[in-house]
Amino acid sequence: MPVPKAELHLHIEGTLEPELAFALAARNGVTLPYADTAALREAYSFSDLQSFLDLYYNLMAVLRTAEDFTELADAYLERAAAQGVRHAEIFFDPQAHTARGVPIGTVIEGLGASLDRSEERYGISTRLILCFLRDESAESALATLEAAKPYLRRITGVGLDSAEVGHPPAKFREVYEEAARLGLRRVAHAGEEGPAAYVREALDVLGVERIDHGLRCMEDPELVDRLARERIPLTVCPFSNVRLRVIDTLADHPLPAMMAAGLLVTVNSDDPAYFGGYVGDNFDGVRDALDLDPEQLRELARNSFLASFLEDDEPRRAR
Ligand code: ADE
Ligand code: ZN
Repeated sequence: MPVPKAELHLHIEGTLEPELAFALAARNGVTLPYADTAALREAYSFSDLQSFLDLYYNLMAVLRTAEDFTELADAYLERAAAQGVRHAEIFFDPQAHTARGVPIGTVIEGLGASLDRSEERYGISTRLILCFLRDESAESALATLEAAKPYLRRITGVGLDSAEVGHPPAKFREVYEEAARLGLRRVAHAGEEGPAAYVREALDVLGVERIDHGLRCMEDPELVDRLARERIPLTVCPFSNVRLRVIDTLADHPLPAMMAAGLLVTVNSDDPAYFGGYVGDNFDGVRDALDLDPEQLRELARNSFLASFLEDDEPRRAR
């Protein structure tokens, strides 16, 4: 029996497995530039975050109808349940779909139809987090939040993802202020490829309650002390860090050092269809590569629930 856990850093578009991508392509009349699923999988060799994002956005062309998004989420939840996930806080990237002419309502209602039956079908409670693409403009982020307003009952929080370097958190001050006014929880990717200063800025300017990745905080001991003192969760994604060359090998992962520094770290899968495994696989991977003992694994599982937005409808950190 896999240990019960929550997954807090999971891009639903990053769960699009090659088999489903080809099935949706056939159904929607989309031609993919790969002969078959094996050829597509062969393209999953990344040199950095951007090289992954290029493929990730291109493959989304197969997602067109609400049913496509429902099937995508169903497939993730079924796999997650098999790996012990009991609660999932799921990111989605609306701008990557609206830019292709898919209305935001199609995306949210499609995902929502799956999430509505998730507890009953898979024993997984869920939350949905709308992410802004940080390599798009601040105006585009504001327009996206505006377009999401009719669907806010389905949305727990906002996040910030895509190409990090050159797109500091402060660019999105206004949209995060509006999100706070709307009662939405706030998280942001920071310190994945970008510097520790982006982690500080996400906390101080955007008022985020959790940092996604956050690895590079380790370069700034004062920041580490602050994150530990304020119990700011970091949603770490070990397989992702290796595949996107943030670190060389799993054995080099700073996870044990982060835990030893008193940080509230969680283990997550990020984009499991692309990075070689789902969240349980990430747990097994770090256990084996880093010699984690059972108590450390229990701490990681416990942290995942502590860091979640479950049973806590009020934002933890007032601005
Ligand atoms: N979008 C999907 N996965 C991402 C990641 N690891 N970093 C930034 N943006 C992303
Ligand atoms: Zn991510």
